[in-house]
Amino acid sequence: MIKEQRSTPEADTDIINLELQDIEGIGPTTAKKLKDAGILSVMDLAVASSDELAVDINASRESAATFIMAAQKLLRDSRIIEKEFLTADIALEKRRSMLRCSTGSQTLDELLLGGVETQAVTEFYGEFGSGKSQICHTLCVTARQPIQSGGMDTGVIYIDTEGTFRPERVEQIARARGLDHAHILKSIAVCKVYNSSHLELIIKDLGKYVNDFNAKLVIIDGIISLHRAEFAGRGTLADRQQRLNSMLHKIIRLAEIFNIAVVITNQVQSAPDTFFGDPTKAAGGNILAHSSTYRIYLRKSGENRLAKVMDSPYHPYSDTRFTINEKGADDIEEETSSKRNKKGSKATDD
Ligand code: GTP
Ligand code: MG
Repeated sequence: MIKEQRSTPEADTDIINLELQDIEGIGPTTAKKLKDAGILSVMDLAVASSDELAVDINASRESAATFIMAAQKLLRDSRIIEKEFLTADIALEKRRSMLRCSTGSQTLDELLLGGVETQAVTEFYGEFGSGKSQICHTLCVTARQPIQSGGMDTGVIYIDTEGTFRPERVEQIARARGLDHAHILKSIAVCKVYNSSHLELIIKDLGKYVNDFNAKLVIIDGIISLHRAEFAGRGTLADRQQRLNSMLHKIIRLAEIFNIAVVITNQVQSAPDTFFGDPTKAAGGNILAHSSTYRIYLRKSGENRLAKVMDSPYHPYSDTRFTINEKGADDIEEETSSKRNKKGSKATDD
């Protein structure tokens, strides 16, 4: 089925040739049960959560976990995913082989140590108009560019929960950057989601879509907007957080297993207990804080935007300024030219 839907020829054919029944311990009956539960491929099973799968296929949690581990083993044996234990030198090699995608602004890329990266979830959060969706639109354009030009030479999956994706804007950004807009537009798969259950379903099948569209970048603009709107009121908070938790864990597993970059955007909520500094914090509480590898806070700063690294395992806690113009996210002209001059004068001083 995946084979027929594939739109790109260059992806790994091993993944698509694997069937659920190739997994040790899974016969036709279990394969059917899994398919009925929406688990259509080995990758879907490999990233499933054992608690949810147990309920979906009416089995014990232990059997569900055994199936998931068997699927992961098959992917490892087929060299599609990494071994469970790696020596640190190989782990470093793997980190070095990860891809990075430019945000469109060199200063913002520098803040991210080279752009948004695969095997990670990068969260941009900030108030309305702070530039979250504009960065997402720009990434759609840069992702299609060759690796040597800061792209990943790949397709993009854009999940739009707020109805703010504009293909015209992508076209404008591509034109302003002198790029082939027709080719870029063809490589973006957009999905407009209408409610939280729809979003959860899309995320559940994301492994399949990533494969179908040969995407290395998945953008989810407004990761919790729908859950936030639907689960209003304190009584339903625990339920909302539990559903968000399960969805976000799936996203992290996908990013790591399939070596894809995931970019999510989030809103802010006011934190009235803050006496000093900016009284806003990311919405979604601890669950979201723990699921994002990198958290970048965006703020309007006059005509421009300020981006600040708030949480990261290895980025320094620094900030930078960038702007939004017809090229999407872009450098502030006077800042880059003064930087260039500084570098130039430093070179002559030496
Ligand atoms: P919410 O989704 O409302 O939370 O905000 P957001 O952070 O996603 O804001 P978004 O990225 O949509 O930024 C909107 C801002 O980007 C606008 O206020 C404009 O300043 C700027 N912007 C949007 N489109 C264009 C454009 O075509 N050209 C230029 N120059 N600026 C634009
Ligand atoms: Mg937006």
